[in-house]
Amino acid sequence: MSLEVHKKLAAEAAMEYIQAGEIIGVGTGSTVNYFIELLADLKNRIDGAVSSSAESTKRMQAHGIKVYDLNEVNGIPVYVDGADELTSNLHLIKGGGGALTREKIVAAASEKFVCIADDSKIVNRLGKFPLPIETIPMARSMVARKLVKYGGQPMLREGFITDNGCTILDIQGLDIVDPLKMEREINQIPGVVTVGIFAERGADVLLAGGENGVTQINLSGPEMLTI
Ligand code: A5P
Repeated sequence: MSLEVHKKLAAEAAMEYIQAGEIIGVGTGSTVNYFIELLADLKNRIDGAVSSSAESTKRMQAHGIKVYDLNEVNGIPVYVDGADELTSNLHLIKGGGGALTREKIVAAASEKFVCIADDSKIVNRLGKFPLPIETIPMARSMVARKLVKYGGQPMLREGFITDNGCTILDIQGLDIVDPLKMEREINQIPGVVTVGIFAERGADVLLAGGENGVTQINLSGPEMLTI
């Protein structure tokens, strides 16, 4: 089975979490794009969606899914999104697609965060994937200098501007021993909009697609799903 099939399997498994009549939080990326296609089949049974990016909004609207502004809704029961790296204690690196700030906002507004991915993204320790940090453009060099003290090499994501008009620094070569501490510290640097560590509000459940199907991981451990 290819990586794409593994992503699709994870997206299919996430459909089990969707209830009729609800507003669904929808993330960004190639794995979520499979989920959006499945959600389109349910568009008359769900109320609509809150989107984490202009890209996902466009895709959902093209499928006829109603997209709400976050300010219009009282709460989001379930948020489905991908990740770039995941650990078994449900910490994530996100932002490979550059949508990390809106993703963090929608995750924070949601009761349950269901993370979908192919199982090659599961790691023992975060940091091999370059850590994305959205920054206010005027602060990017100052932020980059401060990040060097963590042992990483900051690289500006060339030619990329986020949905919020900001720049992204990708920090290579980090060994993230304490994700929660690093998330909190980097968030304190003036000019940082969002750091792509999701530990303060990690996922509630991971659905990882692989050769043998989908493994559901929560804090009580992994479980193989039959779908
Ligand atoms: C978008 O900014 C990211 O956080 C994505 O959720 C993440 O990069 C996963 O994307 P893929 O599903 O395309 O790997």
